[in-house]
Amino acid sequence: MTTDPSLAADSCEAQLSAWLQAAFQTAFGDAAGDARLQVVPSTDPAFGDFQCNDAMSLAKRLRLAPRVIAQRIVDALDAGQAPATATIAGPGFINLTVSPGWLAARLADPSAAGLPDLGGGRTVVLDYSSPNVAKPMHIGHIRSTIIGNSLDRLHRALGYRVIADNHLGDWGTQFGILIMGYRTFLSDAERDGLTVELLEQAYVKSYNRTKEDGAWLDTCRAELVKLQQGDPDNRAIWRRFIEISLREFERIYSRLDVRFDLVRGESYYNDMLPGVVADLEARGLAKESEGATVVPLEEEGMPVCIVRKTDGGFNYATTDIATVRSRVAEFDPARIVYVTDERQQLHFRQFFAVCRKLGIATPLEHVWFGLMRLPEGAISTREGNVIRLDALLDEAERRALAIIGESSPEMDAAQQRALARDIGIGAVKYADLSHDPQNLIVFTWERALALDGNSGPYLQYAHARIRSLLDKYREAFPGRDPADAPLLLEEAAEKQLALHILRYPAAVVRAAENFKPSMLADYLFALAQLYSSFYQRYPILKAPEAVRDSRAHLCVRVAQLLRDGLGLLGIATPDRI
Ligand code: ARG
Repeated sequence: MTTDPSLAADSCEAQLSAWLQAAFQTAFGDAAGDARLQVVPSTDPAFGDFQCNDAMSLAKRLRLAPRVIAQRIVDALDAGQAPATATIAGPGFINLTVSPGWLAARLADPSAAGLPDLGGGRTVVLDYSSPNVAKPMHIGHIRSTIIGNSLDRLHRALGYRVIADNHLGDWGTQFGILIMGYRTFLSDAERDGLTVELLEQAYVKSYNRTKEDGAWLDTCRAELVKLQQGDPDNRAIWRRFIEISLREFERIYSRLDVRFDLVRGESYYNDMLPGVVADLEARGLAKESEGATVVPLEEEGMPVCIVRKTDGGFNYATTDIATVRSRVAEFDPARIVYVTDERQQLHFRQFFAVCRKLGIATPLEHVWFGLMRLPEGAISTREGNVIRLDALLDEAERRALAIIGESSPEMDAAQQRALARDIGIGAVKYADLSHDPQNLIVFTWERALALDGNSGPYLQYAHARIRSLLDKYREAFPGRDPADAPLLLEEAAEKQLALHILRYPAAVVRAAENFKPSMLADYLFALAQLYSSFYQRYPILKAPEAVRDSRAHLCVRVAQLLRDGLGLLGIATPDRI
């Protein structure tokens, strides 16, 4: 994706670029040719708000010193309603300091401050969370759920039609082992009160027995074949596994405020698998290799992609290829995006390559993330990466409740609990989303819940503080709506804040296009910091009337963006903390 959001027609950069471009053409006429001047944010606010560096690269074409070029452009600037004052620095930089009036007009223009309709109704299929049936969600699925859900919200906000599909792992060889484990190692009572944890235990026992008992392994295989052929008993048990697992997953999704449009497991595509392999064979893309059917990917520098195993069974890749074909046919998506941990990179590169060989042009994106190290105690340590998410969320809420109990003892208990939920869950989500997904993160409670660092609670608190300030404004000056007040923006801190507010759409676009919610988190943290230095320096309610109303107006804008932006990260913004 190469959309440069700063080029959006309504952005400050685009408007200022057009202003300089007109002067450039006036100054140089035909010699200007097709050169396009581009204004970018200033690298040092001491010199201005924006800058243009193009005089340097034009020197050769125009056979003039860059400073001379810069001077001629500046001299030719249309001074009527000038958006900025221009100065020249160094070898030929043009520095622009925008006028408060122009900035205020940009802020009042809904198309400059609002989100662009990037999607125009085009469809994105987002495959995320996608845990495996009969196994507790592991940390990979949790991050996939949180990151995927934020990408979901970001794309919807930008005008895409999102199909969020929870591609459950509900099919495969493990079900023969699981069915035998369920029948053999669970008591009647356990089968009645079935849980994912019990299923997992039964699976482990059955799996271990396959290692030492050949006859057992054969029985498991036979049960799998029966399931695949539609045996009613095995089908019923299998459906129960799915139902129990989904019920448990749903509990977590509802705590995390995550909803899917589709929950189609791998099994949904089962009947399409023979067709995929037949197609690959008919097109000469697949060949036999040691009894298996494989698609060679030598040219792509990858190992073969196995699409039918020696025992005739299909596998994960075959299912994913069938899934792409089905999604393309059904939804005609502009892109399909998958969110999983880094260990699946090769799998995705392989089956994406096979899809391209099959002539599927739909862009396929694998968004991968590293694993996050979690605090002691939140992890039940089978293989080190199985974490009980419920326990983690409980702990987050418990810790948040303790903080609230101390800071707002007067608040009633139900309110405290609701707040603790918003803050605790928000802290866990933000701890994940504020980091580049591809960096290693070490989660600590201290950082996640810090009220004075880059944390979810810090941003929620910043938002709530502004709301309470605005409540005071409304109390003191009833009947006035600060959102209608003209913006004055005379102080540098006010201008910086206003400029940052105008960068919101670009930050959202950047986060969505790069599949990095962290880019929006960075933006929001910077917003809260700019607000806080503005708030500490300048009086708001006690300022002279016009300034006071203008500042209250800025507060309205900041609070709204914090709410909207955190909303796109799936984080709630309670009105008071
Ligand atoms: N169920 C898989 C796992 O737990 C993740 C599936 C990701 N989506 C996909 N279409 N392969 O590892």
